[in-house]
Amino acid sequence: MTGQEEECPYETYKITGKLYISGEIREASLLIKEGKIALLGKSLPDMSAPTLELGRYEVALPGMVDLHVHMRGLKLSHKEDWYSGTLSALKGGVTFVADMPNTVPPTVTISALEEKLEEAKLNALVDYGVYFGVPGKLDIYLRALNKGIIGLKIYPKDYRSPILMKLIKINSERGLITVLHAEDPEVEDKNRLAEVSAVKYFSKISINHGVRIHFTHISSSETVNLMLISKLKGAKVTFDITPHHAFLNEKLRERLGGIAIVRPPLRDEESRVAIYNSLRNLIADAYATDHAPHTLEEKTSEKPPPGFPGLEVSLGLLTTEVLERKASWRIIDLYSSRPAELLNIPKGKLLPGFDADIVVLDTKRRWKVKGESFLSKAKYTPFEGWELRGIISKVFIRGVKAYEEGEIFVKRGFGKMYGGHFGEN
Ligand code: NCD
Ligand code: ZN
Ligand code: ZN
Repeated sequence: MTGQEEECPYETYKITGKLYISGEIREASLLIKEGKIALLGKSLPDMSAPTLELGRYEVALPGMVDLHVHMRGLKLSHKEDWYSGTLSALKGGVTFVADMPNTVPPTVTISALEEKLEEAKLNALVDYGVYFGVPGKLDIYLRALNKGIIGLKIYPKDYRSPILMKLIKINSERGLITVLHAEDPEVEDKNRLAEVSAVKYFSKISINHGVRIHFTHISSSETVNLMLISKLKGAKVTFDITPHHAFLNEKLRERLGGIAIVRPPLRDEESRVAIYNSLRNLIADAYATDHAPHTLEEKTSEKPPPGFPGLEVSLGLLTTEVLERKASWRIIDLYSSRPAELLNIPKGKLLPGFDADIVVLDTKRRWKVKGESFLSKAKYTPFEGWELRGIISKVFIRGVKAYEEGEIFVKRGFGKMYGGHFGEN
C-alpha cells in the first residue's frame, strides 16, 4: 500500500512570476499550503515561506483537466494501464483524467468498478475520476454512485436502455456529468448524419426534461451549429471537441492508414475548420483528448481499432496556437477551468481554494512530436513530426512537485480519486 500523506508531506511555499489568472497573464504570487492555493496577490504577506521564482520566459498555468480518456488497464493492460496512462498525462501537463468505462470487464457492475478502482488507486500518478457505463439495473447505478464515480457515459448501444432517462435525471439532480457518445446506431451513414441525428434526439430530451447532457467528441460543422441552436432553445447541453478533430482532416487517412482511424472519423476540411473555430472562439465547452491507446500491431493490422493516444500532444497544440498568436490564452480554459466545472471538481484555476495543480510552461522552447518517445504504451501519433511551441518544465499536483524536465517525482498511487461525494453536490 502507498502511504501518500507520509511520503509526500505538503509544504508551504510561494510561486512568483507570470501566472495565468482569469484569462490573462499577470505578474503575481501564489501561496501554496496543504496542497491548495491559499492566497493570490501582487505581493504576499507570509515572507517566511520559500519561494519558487519563475524564469523570465516561464508562465504558470493551471493543471489540465481531461474529461475523456481511456486508461484501459485490467484485461486491456497491453494497450495502456493506469501507470503508463497517467505517466503520459503527467508529461503532457494533464493533472486530472476522467476514465471511460469501455474496459474489459466493462465498468457496468460493482465488481468491475471495484477492480478498476483498486488498480487506479495503486498505480495512478495524477488525480482521476472514473465513469460508470449504463448498467442493467438502476440499483447497480445507485451503488456505483456511493463508490464515488465521476459521472455516467452513454454509448450508442445504450440509447434504448429502459433505465436511461432515470440515470440522466439522477445525474442532473446531483450535479454529476452525463457524457454522451453521439452516433445514432440506426443511421447507416456514419459520415456526419449519425452524429446529427443523435444530437437532435438528445437535445430534445434535454429541453423536454430539463436535464443536463454533455456531448463528447463533437466532430462536424452541422453538429456545432446544432449545439448552438439547442443552447438558444434552452437545452442544458454542453460539448467537447478533440485535438484531432480541431487540427487534422480526413486526408491524413491516405497517408497514415490505420494510425489515423478514430471514432468519430476525421472529417473534411470544412468540419475541421468549424471544430477549430469552436476552440479558438471559445464556443466549445471543453477540449478533451479521447486518449484511446491501442498497440501499434493492432493499428497496423488489417482491421485497425479506432483511436490513438493524445495526452502528450494536447496541451502543446494549444500553447502553440497561443504562442503563434493565432488564439488567446483563454483557450486554456477549455482544457482546465471549464472541464473542472463540468466535472464539479475543485481544479483548473489558479485561485484560492482550488487544488494547487500547476503546470510551468517554458514559452521560449520548441519541440518536435515523436511518437517513439511517448511515455504512453502507444508510441505513435497522427501528429508525428509537428513542431510545437512551449515546453512543460514542471508540474505540481496538490502542491507536490510531480514532474520536472523529464523526471518523475511522485510514486505510483500518488493520484487521488475525485467523484460523486465531492463538490457541492
Ligand atoms: C475509443 C476506444 O478505443 O476506446 N475509440 C475511439 O476511436 N475514440 C472508443 C470511443 O471513445 O468511442
Ligand atoms: Zn466515443
Ligand atoms: Zn473515447
